[in-house]
Amino acid sequence: MAIIEVKNLVKTYKISEKQNGMLGYIKHLFHPKYREQTAVNNVSFNIEEGELVGYIGENGAGKSTTIKMLTGLLTPTSGSVIVNGLVPNEKRIQNNKQIGAVFGQKTQLWWDLPVIESFRLIKKMYEIPEGEYRKNLKKFTEILQLEELLDKQVKNLSLGQKMRCEIAATFLHNPKIVYLDEPTIGLDILVKDNIRKFIKDINKEKKTTVILTTHDLKDIEEVCDRIILIDKGSIIYDGEKEKFKDIYGNKIIAEFVVKNKTKSVTLETQEEDFEVIEETENSLKIRFNHDKLTVINIVDSISKYCEILDMHVQEQGLEEILKEIYRGEIIRD
Ligand SMILES: Nc1ncnc2c1ncn2[C@@H]1O[C@H](COP(=O)(O)OP(=O)(O)O)[C@@H](O)[C@H]1O
Ligand SMILES: [Mg+2]
Repeated sequence: MAIIEVKNLVKTYKISEKQNGMLGYIKHLFHPKYREQTAVNNVSFNIEEGELVGYIGENGAGKSTTIKMLTGLLTPTSGSVIVNGLVPNEKRIQNNKQIGAVFGQKTQLWWDLPVIESFRLIKKMYEIPEGEYRKNLKKFTEILQLEELLDKQVKNLSLGQKMRCEIAATFLHNPKIVYLDEPTIGLDILVKDNIRKFIKDINKEKKTTVILTTHDLKDIEEVCDRIILIDKGSIIYDGEKEKFKDIYGNKIIAEFVVKNKTKSVTLETQEEDFEVIEETENSLKIRFNHDKLTVINIVDSISKYCEILDMHVQEQGLEEILKEIYRGEIIRD
C-alpha cells in the first residue's frame, strides 16, 4: 500500500475583495465580497515508502498548498489525503510523530537556545530513545558538519548553518515521511551539496519517504528519482525523472569556442533544424534535437562560417526543459 495517497485533492482560498480606503473598508464591513481562488485543483497521486519525489512547478503553482494539506496544516476543500493510514488534518498529533517538515526559512528551533538544547527538547517531545538519539546526533553531526554549531545560539547562526541544523532537527525522530518545502533557498553551493547528500544518505539507510519542493532544479537532478510537475493547481507530469527528460527533452546543448567567424551564424542558419541560443565573437551555444541531428551535423553546418577550436556537449538540463514548458514552447497533452 502506498504510504501517501492523495485523491482528487482540491484547495480553494477565499480572497476578500476589499476596496482601498476608508469607504472601501466600511463597504466591505457591511457587504463583504469574496472571490475564490483554486490553488490545488483535483490532484491525485500515490507515493510508495522510500520514494524521493520532487514536487515542482512555477511560483504560485500550488506546491506549498499541497504540502500544507499533506502535513495537516490545511484542511482540503474536497478530496482526500491519507498518510500512512492517517488523515493528517484530523489526526494532527499522531501524524506529527510520523513526519518531519521544513518550510523555507521558518525555523522549528528555539531562537535563543543553543542548537543542542533544541535537539534535546525535540528528543523529549518525540520521546526519542536515548540510544537512537545519540546515534542520529553523531551521524547527523558528521554529515552536516554541525560540530562547531551545537553550542551556538540559533539566532547567531548564518542562514546555511541554521538550515543544516534545521534539517538535522527534522530527521532526529526518524520520521517515516519528510516534507521539504524550499529547503535550499538562499543557500550557497557547498551547503546545498551537504544537504542533498544528507537526504540521500538517510533515505538509503532508513527508507525515509521524501517530498521536496525547490527552485533549484539541481536539487531535483541530484536527489529525486520521480517528478510531479504541477501547473496552475493541476498535475501535468508524474513519473520518472529520466523519462520526463526523454519525453520533453532529448535535446542537446553544444557549446563551441570558435575563431575567424565571417558571418553571424544565427542569421545564416535560421532555416536549419537547430537553434543558436547564444552567439559572441568567439563562442556559439546551440540547441538541437538529438532525434533529428547529431553533433557532426552541427559541426558541418557551422564550420562554414568559422573555425572550431573547442567544444562541449551536454544533455539539456531539467531547468531548460521546464523553462520551455512554462513558456509554452513544448506542447503537452
Ligand atoms: N493563504 C492564502 N490565501 C489566499 N491565497 C493563497 C494563500 N496561499 C496561497 N495562495 C494562492 O494560491 C496559489 C498557490 O500558492 P502556493 O501553494 O503557495 O504556490 P507555490 O508554493 O507553488 O508557489 C497562489 O496563487 C497563491 O497566491
Ligand atoms: Mg511555495
